[in-house]
Amino acid sequence: MEQKEAKKRVYSGIQPSGMLTLGNYIGAVRNWDSMQDEYDCIYCVVDQHAITVRQDAATLRRRTMETYALLLAAGIDPKRSILYVQSHVPAHAMLTWVLNCFTYVGELSRMTQFKDKSEKHADNINAGLLDYPVLMVSDILLYRSDLVPIGADQKQHLELTRDVAARFNNLFGDTFVVPEPYIGKVGARIMSLQEPEKKMSKSDENVNAFIAMLDEPDVIRRKMRRAVTDSEGTVRVAPEKPGISNLIGIYAALTGLATEAVEKEFEGKGYGVFKDAVADVVVDALAPIQARYKEFLADKKALEAMMDDGARAAEAIANRTLSKVYRKVGFVERKRH
Ligand code: TRP
Repeated sequence: MEQKEAKKRVYSGIQPSGMLTLGNYIGAVRNWDSMQDEYDCIYCVVDQHAITVRQDAATLRRRTMETYALLLAAGIDPKRSILYVQSHVPAHAMLTWVLNCFTYVGELSRMTQFKDKSEKHADNINAGLLDYPVLMVSDILLYRSDLVPIGADQKQHLELTRDVAARFNNLFGDTFVVPEPYIGKVGARIMSLQEPEKKMSKSDENVNAFIAMLDEPDVIRRKMRRAVTDSEGTVRVAPEKPGISNLIGIYAALTGLATEAVEKEFEGKGYGVFKDAVADVVVDALAPIQARYKEFLADKKALEAMMDDGARAAEAIANRTLSKVYRKVGFVERKRH
């Protein structure tokens, strides 16, 4: 049981493919923060995943720095957890190659995210897009992760992780920990403000569809007022009222109230009043994070030093797993002289 204490290990990753949204905050980052005491947490900015769709190099570099700073600002604490950038730890790409040889093309081509992204980026169905889940499998398995907090859209990828881990263990003996999904609180799935049947996405072309964690208060208020609702005029959760249901979900998540309590609070009040109230709680939740973010981003040297420390800590764990895998599959160990 080398270096494993009583605490379970949590692993998760986030793509620097756009600025993080309120959906990322409520659905993921906020939970990452609250898990840090109970678990041994490792969080990764997965820049290697991001290049499966075309990225502008300067933009990706900037967003990677910004995402890292924003995670720090949102409470990810390098003293308690490991926070690092994926491309800083070569073991991810190295394990991916090995695990590619233990994953079937059929398994990958069946992934719904692959099918969706192939449709969306029909001019660029590159091998990385197909192979992306194996990189994610490697992220998780390198760190002997017990729990992986993920949204519903990543469940298939976690299933694959479990299958590949078990397959490898069967062939070579106990090597990987077979991870469990960690499903956050219900109602934590935040939807687009413009098309509330769709998940809020940081890469949405319509900026009114999402609230970025770094949006200024007046921008947040304006986007809220423009949020798509319905003509009924009552603040209540219902499947035929996805827009209002989503706003209730946001309000409930940020105030800690039950949705019924939110409905009660806004009984007899119009959508205008309700939307302004939702905007207020969002502004209040994000303001302190935004202030800390500016401080972190202002000191690039300090940020780079934190990234380096994070990569060092991650690498120590990852390289141990990778060596074990190399030995098991029959690679000759390089003896340095
Ligand atoms: N694929 C995930 C997403 O797009 C991000 C991710 C990459 C991840 N590696 C991971 C999540 C490992 C959890 C664990 O959201």
